[in-house]
Amino acid sequence: MNLTVALTGASGAILCQELLLALEADERVAQVHFVASENSLRVLAAELGLSGRDNLLEKLLGAAPTKTMRHADEELGAAIASGSYPSSGMIVLPCSMGTLAAIANGLANSLIARAADVTLKERRPLILCVRETPFNRIHLRNMTLAAEAGAVIFPAIPAFYNHPIDSAEMARQFVCRVLAHIGLPQPGAYVWKAEE
Ligand SMILES: Cc1cc2nc3c(=O)[nH]c(=O)nc-3n(C[C@H](O)[C@H](O)[C@H](O)COP(=O)(O)O)c2cc1C
Repeated sequence: MNLTVALTGASGAILCQELLLALEADERVAQVHFVASENSLRVLAAELGLSGRDNLLEKLLGAAPTKTMRHADEELGAAIASGSYPSSGMIVLPCSMGTLAAIANGLANSLIARAADVTLKERRPLILCVRETPFNRIHLRNMTLAAEAGAVIFPAIPAFYNHPIDSAEMARQFVCRVLAHIGLPQPGAYVWKAEE
């Protein structure tokens, strides 16, 4: 697989960090294209204490990336901005209401919005892990618009029934659900067992 991952300025940067770590470790994934919006940098600083634009992947992964490459959100000439590039799909985690609006309305005015637009037009999987609370009617309409265009609205809502011991474990299990959804079931994923 060859996946695009976008980090936007909604709360939940740790979810994207765990996603990038899982994809780096997954032998079924050959390449990851990573794009962080300008506004995500503020949330990264607030939530993970990671500041500055430089070496962002190294900071998130704790090591040099082996298969993940970063693009600037202004880089509209990147390969993932074109439908002819054979991407397997795109995950926006977390997805802010601003980015949701841009995608739902086809603005294609940043690399994240354009790559999502291309993913939809090529009928490839697009997973929008939206995060806001509460939702206003504009958010709800934009989610419907995006879903009607083929996106999967996959809210960044963790599970509690697996008794996560910390926020990293909570994030890991959420990422397992996202990856299982696009055909990459993960070792260590909690599986709910029904009571007999
Ligand atoms: C600490 C922090 C948390 C935020 N959390 C959210 C959120 O959960 N959802 C959301 O839609 N916007 C959130 N925002 C606001 C977005 O960052 C803002 O709307 C921004 O314009 C989104 O831009 P982007 O989509 O290009 O990343 C948050 C901002 C900050 C500073």
